Amino acid sequence: MELKIGFVGFGNAARAFARLLEEQRARLLSEYEIRWRTTAIATASHGCIMADEIDLAHAVAARETEGALPSLPGAVIVRDSFELIQSCDADILFETTPLNPIDGQPAITHIRKAIERSINVVTANKGPLAFAFKQLNEIAERAGVAFRFEGTVMDGAPVFNLIETCLPAVEVLGFSGVLNSTTNYILTEMESGRSFEDALIEAQRLRIAEANPDYDIDAWDAAVKTVVLANVLMRADACPADVARTGIRQITPHHLKEAAGRGNVLRLIARANRSGGEVKLSVAPEEVSAVSLYGSARGTSSVLAIETDLMGELALFENNPGIRQTAYALLSDMIRVHTGLVRKN
Ligand SMILES: NC(=O)c1ccc[n+]([C@@H]2O[C@H](COP(=O)([O-])OP(=O)(O)OC[C@H]3O[C@@H](n4cnc5c(N)ncnc54)[C@H](OP(=O)(O)O)[C@@H]3O)[C@@H](O)[C@H]2O)c1
Repeated sequence: MELKIGFVGFGNAARAFARLLEEQRARLLSEYEIRWRTTAIATASHGCIMADEIDLAHAVAARETEGALPSLPGAVIVRDSFELIQSCDADILFETTPLNPIDGQPAITHIRKAIERSINVVTANKGPLAFAFKQLNEIAERAGVAFRFEGTVMDGAPVFNLIETCLPAVEVLGFSGVLNSTTNYILTEMESGRSFEDALIEAQRLRIAEANPDYDIDAWDAAVKTVVLANVLMRADACPADVARTGIRQITPHHLKEAAGRGNVLRLIARANRSGGEVKLSVAPEEVSAVSLYGSARGTSSVLAIETDLMGELALFENNPGIRQTAYALLSDMIRVHTGLVRKN
């Protein structure tokens, strides 16, 4: 089956995905019978274009060298992402605009408008899940389209797919984990004597930091991921303001040295527990043993321990991921969407 692909957001994650798509073109065809072509790309300030077929490799190169999307013969230039979603010819839309931890917009509207046009949606953007998971999931189910979001937490590690596909009948009672790569990278670099500022600059160079790195440092990103996990896995109906949140801004080399003297390290740990009818959510730095599950998560690594009723406690460890693992999340979701479409037809 051929998939017509649209991009809303064409930044680091989307371009890494575009490269992976080109790299895996032959495999997608031979193993899954997926043919694909790009028909639409929207950015905030570098152009929005639609065409029968956009040369994706050329678009990536043009965005990275010339700064703008290429002008192609026969391409239609539209004003913004909303006009593009309203008029593009796409089977699947990849929403990768930046996180907005205040209200999740404009990504929620992007996704809703795509679903209303019966376009399947894949996103790596946590905002829509943190503020409108229930609503978006319901309209996607009613419209009979897929809404997938594996890349929102721990990149391509199968967090949501694990519960959905491999653990039928299991109830998630709570979870805890190290979920933010940027703060974990900064903390482990500081353990080796690097300054907070230098470690942050390096995280930005590695393209793992949010567009606004304050969202990482002040634990908004981790809080939003905690809400996404709670909403999807525990049906919590929470929003980021419900998370008791402390970031890593106040941590100094002195704190880390003192912890090291006790054989410990500091980690930014997210927690969710059901207490009575309520789900309690928190993110805060904690001192943990350097050889514990959390202490072993160094650099960009992340770890999630899930407590369940029928399967006890399970943990997922993602070792030092980079942007390629985010790209893989989008690719794996795309394959799942395709499988669903093939079954339907
Ligand atoms: N990077 C990672 O490692 C990673 C990992 C997991 C999840 N994510 C999530 O993936 C998303 C994208 O991250 P990123 O690192 O790729 O961000 P990024 O490099 O800042 O790219 C964001 C893209 O969105 C575009 N954009 C912003 N507002 C828009 C709007 N209103 N309409 C259309 N396009 C808009 C930007 O346009 P311009 O090009 O004109 O600026 C840019 O192309 C974020 O939600 C992030 O949380 C990222």
